Amino acid sequence: MQRPNYPSGKDLLGADSVSRHDLDDIFERTERFLQQDDEDEDQPSAVKMPRRPKVIATLFDQRSTRTRLGFQAAALRLGHQSLDVYDTERSRMGTAAGESLEDHIRTIEAYCDLIVVRSHMESLPYQIGRLSYLPVVNAGNGAEEHPTQALIDLFAIHKLRGDIGGLSIALSSDTRARFALSFVKMLRLLPPRQFTLCCLPDVAISPPMREAMTLLAGLGCTVGVVHDIRDTLSHDVLIVQMQDMSRFAHASLGSDAVDKERETEPFTLTAQKLIEAKSDTLVLNPLPRFTELDTSVDDLPNAGYFQQVKLSLPVRMAILERMLLGIPWTG
Ligand code: CP
Repeated sequence: MQRPNYPSGKDLLGADSVSRHDLDDIFERTERFLQQDDEDEDQPSAVKMPRRPKVIATLFDQRSTRTRLGFQAAALRLGHQSLDVYDTERSRMGTAAGESLEDHIRTIEAYCDLIVVRSHMESLPYQIGRLSYLPVVNAGNGAEEHPTQALIDLFAIHKLRGDIGGLSIALSSDTRARFALSFVKMLRLLPPRQFTLCCLPDVAISPPMREAMTLLAGLGCTVGVVHDIRDTLSHDVLIVQMQDMSRFAHASLGSDAVDKERETEPFTLTAQKLIEAKSDTLVLNPLPRFTELDTSVDDLPNAGYFQQVKLSLPVRMAILERMLLGIPWTG
């Protein structure tokens, strides 16, 4: 059977897939969905179903709450459907009674219209993008990238704090975190006035993160590095998530080699630190949270992370809409 040609730019694989033009398009579509949401509240019957619903495949071999459910909810909100196409207990792929990735993807192609992939393997979204003529979304691949989270983070900042070009933005995170790299890489499209990285003093900044920060500096952004979260609390925005993945991995494996509390304290955000600094910094976190964000922050006006989750839905709808329409990524 003749398979369709692979259109160029069909996949969203990393921050580099996205151009400024694409980002503006995502923001416009997201705003439209937000407006429709307001109108639907007044007039519930205004929701229109597409003539032929599409099927979104979610192929996740790593745990996820927001990304998997978010894309599934976005599909439903658009009048489409979703299918979990990989289940470690029940799928054949990668098991003794199994089949090849190629056959699994050829089968999914017969049932679905777009594939959203999360994997512990950095190569998997690229492999699937090459194997399939369907559009592929990278929903987080190993330690590499998480580009849809970056689109969500940029839109949340734009919506909750306004023109990104005029803002100071801090990021407190392990520089090897995939969301962090995608975020800093995507900032090149809307460079802030100032960017500050808050990271452990004794863990080297990852080479791709260093490269992304150098690019930002070349675009006129004032770039700096600090090692205590208190030094970020005069910024307009702080994005914070897990500070040290290697120590977290050690801890989850039962290692008590590090004095966790002593080492994480400078990177833990609490209500007390924000109040002492008289900070009106907008705090975002892609979630899930670990020790870096104390629940005491939740009651302060600084806390923007659950609004960020809410805004992620129209952003995911915008991503699905343009990809299902066959609009290419031009980055
Ligand atoms: N932010 C994010 O990627 O969350 P999940 O791992 O729950 O999808």
